[in-house]
Amino acid sequence: MPTESMSPSLGTGAIYRQRLRRHPSVQHLRAAAQARLPGFAFDSGDGGAGVDRGIVRNNTALDAMTLVPRYGEVTELPPADTVLFGQAQSLPIGIAPMGSPGVIWPGADRIMATAAQRAGVPFCLSTVSGITIEEAARLAPENLWVQMYRFPNNDHAIGFDMVARARAAGARALILTMDVPVRTTRPREVTAGIASPFHFTPRMVAQALRHPSYVRAFLREGIPRFASLMQYAPPGAGINEMARFAQREFTGTFNWTEVARYRDQWAGPLVLKGILHPADAEKAVALGVDAIQVSNHGGRQIEGLPATIEQLPDLVAAVNGRARVLFDSGVRGGLDVVRALSLGADFVFAGKAFLWSLGALGESGPAHALDLFADEIRSTMGQLGVTRLEQLRDCTKGRSQSV
Ligand SMILES: Cc1cc2nc3c(=O)[nH]c(=O)nc-3n(C[C@H](O)[C@H](O)[C@H](O)COP(=O)(O)O)c2cc1C
Repeated sequence: MPTESMSPSLGTGAIYRQRLRRHPSVQHLRAAAQARLPGFAFDSGDGGAGVDRGIVRNNTALDAMTLVPRYGEVTELPPADTVLFGQAQSLPIGIAPMGSPGVIWPGADRIMATAAQRAGVPFCLSTVSGITIEEAARLAPENLWVQMYRFPNNDHAIGFDMVARARAAGARALILTMDVPVRTTRPREVTAGIASPFHFTPRMVAQALRHPSYVRAFLREGIPRFASLMQYAPPGAGINEMARFAQREFTGTFNWTEVARYRDQWAGPLVLKGILHPADAEKAVALGVDAIQVSNHGGRQIEGLPATIEQLPDLVAAVNGRARVLFDSGVRGGLDVVRALSLGADFVFAGKAFLWSLGALGESGPAHALDLFADEIRSTMGQLGVTRLEQLRDCTKGRSQSV
């Protein structure tokens, strides 16, 4: 089981209490990030598909979901540790895979991996991360998950080599992301001037110069690169060639035959991320995946998808205990984690919450966000009158309708 030292401070540490005064919630972190980051950096992490209606829908549906407490049993804060794929986790929340987070805060991958390892929760490394699989494994040896996009050329040579690297590095789980079949345009990225390859426009330079802490971090860490992919690009490829290489090689979403081939390549826990339809969940289970991740990519791919919390009950029913059900999109605090668990999710991930924490607090942001989650999950459990995470499912009973 997790030890005290690997757990987040769970609301007791002096440093946490001090940070709590200025940043008492994820929404406060977002506001601080908006004030502290150059506009292009904030928009590149915060913006969704279209005019952000998918993001709003995720949040609105979560906010509308209420839970029914029971009183008379609980007298102290309950623990919130759990077990996933046979591994103890100090909390039921992990850091979702995010590509190029170094645009939002230089060094983001390194900082998030370190915070996840200290806290004893999963850190998912994106295919398009700023650090390599090997470096992430050094920073988070017990907590690294590796996320894959599809590289179909040469019979998936790059993809299967990355799987081998993930295995050699000791990654605990492999995620295949299903919900990026085509590329999408995010208007806030367009208007901010974010392009691939990343380069500074004169407007971005002007914005950055007004935020000295960002410039200092940028000078320390350099231009974000696709670190794990560098070894596959032509030798000496500069940033432009690297971007063209990534565009050419990484395309489409995995078909079911390919999922089966990845299943053969990877003996550890395999997660299919971005599942929203019960029939897809059924196919995933039939192919022997260990978990589906109910996700709409945090509203970043298309804004007309259902809120994930609305889809969750049907997907839990379709899976029917044959695999784990993971959840993300719209999670903004411990209450949202508890909401998803109460509808049958086994584990929850957040993305933007951790990016905002970086924008607000830099190096110490993700640790603070994890402390906030720990504190809120435990106090929400106590408030609802449950002593264990598994009892949360009872909190949706006694109501005329769920969600
Ligand atoms: C800036 C950013 C980059 C992302 N990049 C990836 C990625 O490379 N691979 C992936 O599977 N999901 C990616 N996602 C989606 C997240 O893994 C996750 O599904 C989403 O952020 C959850 O929603 P939330 O941000 O509301 O918590 C990204 C999300 C953000 C915000």
